[in-house]
Amino acid sequence: IQQEATNIIKKASNLDELDDLRVKYLGKKGEVTQILRSMGELPPEKRPVIGKLANQVKSKLQQLISKRKEELKNQAKEEQLKEESIDVTLPGVKIKSANKHPLTLVFNEIKEIFLGLGFKIAEGPDVETDYYNFEALNFPANHPARDMQDTFYVGEDELLRTHTSSVQVRTMEQTTPPIRIIAPGRVYRSDEIDATHTPVFHQVEGLMIGKDISFANLKEILIEAVHELFGTDRKVRFRPSYFPFTEPSAEVDVSCANCGGQGCSVCSDTGWLEILGSGMVHPNVLEMSGIDSKEFTGFAFGMGVERIAMLKYDIDDIRLLYENDVRFLEQFK
Ligand code: PHE
Repeated sequence: IQQEATNIIKKASNLDELDDLRVKYLGKKGEVTQILRSMGELPPEKRPVIGKLANQVKSKLQQLISKRKEELKNQAKEEQLKEESIDVTLPGVKIKSANKHPLTLVFNEIKEIFLGLGFKIAEGPDVETDYYNFEALNFPANHPARDMQDTFYVGEDELLRTHTSSVQVRTMEQTTPPIRIIAPGRVYRSDEIDATHTPVFHQVEGLMIGKDISFANLKEILIEAVHELFGTDRKVRFRPSYFPFTEPSAEVDVSCANCGGQGCSVCSDTGWLEILGSGMVHPNVLEMSGIDSKEFTGFAFGMGVERIAMLKYDIDDIRLLYENDVRFLEQFK
């Protein structure tokens, strides 16, 4: 038995096979076990000899089996290691990461710039009352901007704000000067959709009120902001304009980039593009919100975020910002 067993145990090629062999020889009904069990049937004088022999065979086989078991285990481990080994020189798998929307990028940049200039962030509701959107901003009762053409009314007195200037009023009512806030947000106008208009777009309002705040401060802050946004090589132009809530008022243009003959798709023939409206807060507006216009002055501005994004990234159609085409969005890393 020992010889036969020794040979096949050594040849066992896997752990299952080996276990079958253990059962065959040493299991409850195994060949060696059977011999040991049948000792009682032997004549007494033969028992010690056979018993000793059988026990020797048993322990010899146990040793052989556990030795073979070790070998097979090591072999398996080595194979596994070989399989799992990593070639660190192989190129990695590229993970596609999401990136920020161009509007978010511009919002973040504008916020950073004004936070750096000491401004805080203010908020107001998208659904506004006529008072905050128009009346408190010195719009005459019959002003064309109140027309159903431009404004989405959601009730007799409620509307979707047509600009973030409503947040100026809310801020002035709630705080005493000095005031230095920006109000980023969504605004709504019932415009026909085309390459430069969407009924929902974004503005960042700015408001600075204090003692002796002048138009020079307005220019200084806005030139600084435009230079940070577009680079110091871009020129800034202030053009006289009109808003009911500021006097004097100015629209601000930025000079087009020099595209090196590649043609900037987003530029007018004049070489300038308008990016914001601004002006000194009208005394009526200050007074209506409870600020003494003899003691305090200030300026306000409202910038179009889509406009700025289009200029910065040379996007020639505003609709691209809302279509969620990954081929477009992937370009803004
Ligand atoms: N609210 C104006 C607009 O939407 C922009 C503006 C804001 C102008 C603040 C002057 C001061 O066109």
